[in-house]
Amino acid sequence: MCGIVGYIGTKPVKEILIDGLRELEYRGYDSAGIAVLQNHQFSLFKAVGKLINLEEKAQKFESTGFSVGIGHTRWATHGKPTELNAHPHVGSSSYVVHNGIIENYQELKSKLTAQGSHFISQTDTEVIVHLFEFHLKTASSPFEAFTKTLEELEGAYAILLVTASVNDTIFFAKQGSPMIVGRNQENETLFGSSDAALIGKCHEVIYLEDGHYGIATADKISLYDKNNNQVDLHFTPLSENKLSAQKDGHRFFMEKEIYEQGTVLADTLMGRLRDETVYFEELPPELFDGIHSIKLCACGTSYHAALVATYLLERHAKIQTSVEIASEFRYREPLLSPDTLFVVISQSGETADTLESLKMAKKAGLKTLVICNVDNSSMVRLADASILTRAGIEKGVASTKAFATQVSVLWMLSLHLASERKTLQENEIARQIKLLRTLPSVVVVDNSIHEQLRRLSKRYLHGHGFFFIGRDVFFPLALEGALKLKEISYLHAEGYPSGEMKHGPIALADPELFTIALLPQHKLYDKTKSNVEELSARDSTICSISPLDFDKADDHIRTHFHEDYMLEFFEMMVVLQLLSMEIAVRLGNDVDMPRNLAKSVTVE
Ligand code: M6R
Repeated sequence: MCGIVGYIGTKPVKEILIDGLRELEYRGYDSAGIAVLQNHQFSLFKAVGKLINLEEKAQKFESTGFSVGIGHTRWATHGKPTELNAHPHVGSSSYVVHNGIIENYQELKSKLTAQGSHFISQTDTEVIVHLFEFHLKTASSPFEAFTKTLEELEGAYAILLVTASVNDTIFFAKQGSPMIVGRNQENETLFGSSDAALIGKCHEVIYLEDGHYGIATADKISLYDKNNNQVDLHFTPLSENKLSAQKDGHRFFMEKEIYEQGTVLADTLMGRLRDETVYFEELPPELFDGIHSIKLCACGTSYHAALVATYLLERHAKIQTSVEIASEFRYREPLLSPDTLFVVISQSGETADTLESLKMAKKAGLKTLVICNVDNSSMVRLADASILTRAGIEKGVASTKAFATQVSVLWMLSLHLASERKTLQENEIARQIKLLRTLPSVVVVDNSIHEQLRRLSKRYLHGHGFFFIGRDVFFPLALEGALKLKEISYLHAEGYPSGEMKHGPIALADPELFTIALLPQHKLYDKTKSNVEELSARDSTICSISPLDFDKADDHIRTHFHEDYMLEFFEMMVVLQLLSMEIAVRLGNDVDMPRNLAKSVTVE
């Protein structure tokens, strides 16, 4: 995902900025740029692709003496990965870099265009710099123009802005996207969207909080909070360990990836939600023409996301949907009909079985779509159409944020199709779009629940196995919970539809059998509850996850009340991810690189 760096000082600024951006490469990006301000003159370099391209563009540029610079790596969301859309974005004499999304950018853009601003990119970011320059005309100072700009922005942002009239200054702000400011003994001030960019360059940093904004020069940083009160600067020492910095203070990449699901889901939804419909700019309009059924195909966690989609697509879009495990599909000589849309789901876009299935479907003349996290992967290149999940690089072998983004894309796809096929009332689509907008906050980790899971994990380290059970979309979620636990704890776990227990599996019930029961308030609560009661009556140890009390539980994880089962789904997903991680930690396992597993399975 996008990365930001900033620098005020006397060292060669180009090298410092590009070096900082390189430390953020692990987040993924498709274009990059830097702007340097020296002696009231700007130098701007942008390039599509890797940082090496930016270095080539800026090859001849050298700076000596004092300068101010900002840099950015962009993962395309609004508009394609082109040089024009790459940051920094320019007004007439100011430059900005930005992470996040300006939700009211269309409205601001129309207003500013009417007032004479000339936009050259397709991004939401560009409104920031034009708005700043608009206020600069009447404000008593550039800082006042900056604060007036912030007052008008809605959405999430981390912003650095520089303007020619103040040669030694960076204006900064943070709301919903991370931003860190650091300093060192050489009187330099640096910024980064992750502390990874500042390691080795700063000895102490401030992790800005939401609503923080301010102004920085080489020898002074002034920081304000959301109520415009000046804030004391509380620096904390910066670690010198690059790997731990990439983990943003978390113990494992898996933990970091669980915690960043709110941010990545905001990226996944970005630009795709309209008031009454879901819009996928990347889908050719004729993709669904002549299509009467959908076949989903995937492996592992992506297969579980596909299973969730079977419920949503049939329920919302009233289109016949089936799902296949790719390794089975390949060899079972399936009957394929040209009115079926073949949809593969893959985090990596390289999984051998899924890729081969896609090739088979193409060969059979089916239209194909891939839902994938990696642009330019083999599947994205091969399929007729692709929707990127925008989860950023996922390092933990156990997939977490990739699953969250896949399910959210599939939910959106079901609504997109529902509005095309007119299978849901407009007000119902609008209601679900509102729910989708809340996803980034629904998946924010609740510290007290995480603490509870940390404590109760010690009771789940032995026994002869786990059953994860649920109904409807909570059945694939149960499968995913069981897979997460298996992968990193090496304990035996199975996911089951809760109604299936009495057809055999309940024979295993005894106190050493742990049942993790998903009891959402808004989907078949009573039915699931009686299945869990049957297990409890046979002495299985029950850990229930529900917003409602459940007196038959040995352990109860109380989730929040939500107005819809899909929001309960996403919160329970986080609980299951944390539960398996905490059990694996107690067992002393390598959470990020579990034994016998690889992140991308490129062999059969
Ligand atoms: O990259 P893909 O989504 O195609 O990978 C499929 C599976 O290998 C993957 O989801 C695997 O099951 C995960 N490690 C599960 O956490």
